[in-house]
Amino acid sequence: MNGNGAHWLELRGLSLTEGDVRIVEDVTLKVSRGRTAILGPNGAGKSTLLRLMHDLLRPSAGEILWPQPLTQAMVFQRPIMLRATALANIEYGLRLRGHSAVEQRERATAALARVGLPELALRQARRCSGGEQQRIALARAWALEPQVLFLDEPTASLDPASSREVERIIREIAAAGTKIVMTTHNLGQARRLAEEVVYLEGGRLLEQTSVTEFFHQPRTLAARDFIREEVG
Ligand SMILES: Nc1ncnc2c1ncn2[C@@H]1O[C@H](COP(=O)(O)OP(=O)(O)OP(=O)(O)O)[C@@H](O)[C@H]1O
Ligand SMILES: [Mg+2]
Repeated sequence: MNGNGAHWLELRGLSLTEGDVRIVEDVTLKVSRGRTAILGPNGAGKSTLLRLMHDLLRPSAGEILWPQPLTQAMVFQRPIMLRATALANIEYGLRLRGHSAVEQRERATAALARVGLPELALRQARRCSGGEQQRIALARAWALEPQVLFLDEPTASLDPASSREVERIIREIAAAGTKIVMTTHNLGQARRLAEEVVYLEGGRLLEQTSVTEFFHQPRTLAARDFIREEVG
């Protein structure tokens, strides 16, 4: 049920428990495609699963296996901007990875241009609008040229024009060869961007299937109801 081709990420019996709460429960899957959307209702465990994959949380049980190590970056739903200019925010990540000052400036400037915001270079990032900050965060991640990019609700709270722009950026990042794992509540967006869907409910994996199959022939009743309710 995992699509074709060699996988690049594998979860084996992954669980995360906090007190009595089972946030992620016994998730086993292999990710082999280039663009994966994690879907499910509020509280399903999507963000938590993403954080586990990106090594920001330690699982209570199970394993995360990378057949070959891949460089990673993550963009959060509400990006955290440093109290500095947009350019400096992007340069910061590059500095941490050991790039020279000249390289930092070059790459950060290019990344800001690629997200369509060159004019914001010297603006204080925290004063930029939510949509602009989201794009600066994407530029910050993109500048690192990660092999895998985790995106948590990349267009939540953005207007339609900003959402389209962010989708364009995500497509471009993917086209350059970066593997994408993203969560979204926007089913149209999942259809447009993803090749594969991972469907979670109550911390459990209910389906992993191609995007076409998920929307046309969901296997579980839960997924069928979810699609019907979300589409309205
Ligand atoms: N540290 C924690 N301690 C206890 N419960 C937690 C903790 N972190 C998350 N949870 C709970 O785990 C569940 C899953 O949270 P998560 O944020 O992963 O869901 P989600 O699928 O991303 O939801 P949404 O669609 O609202 O973003 C929620 O019920 C949340 O309240
Ligand atoms: Mg979430």
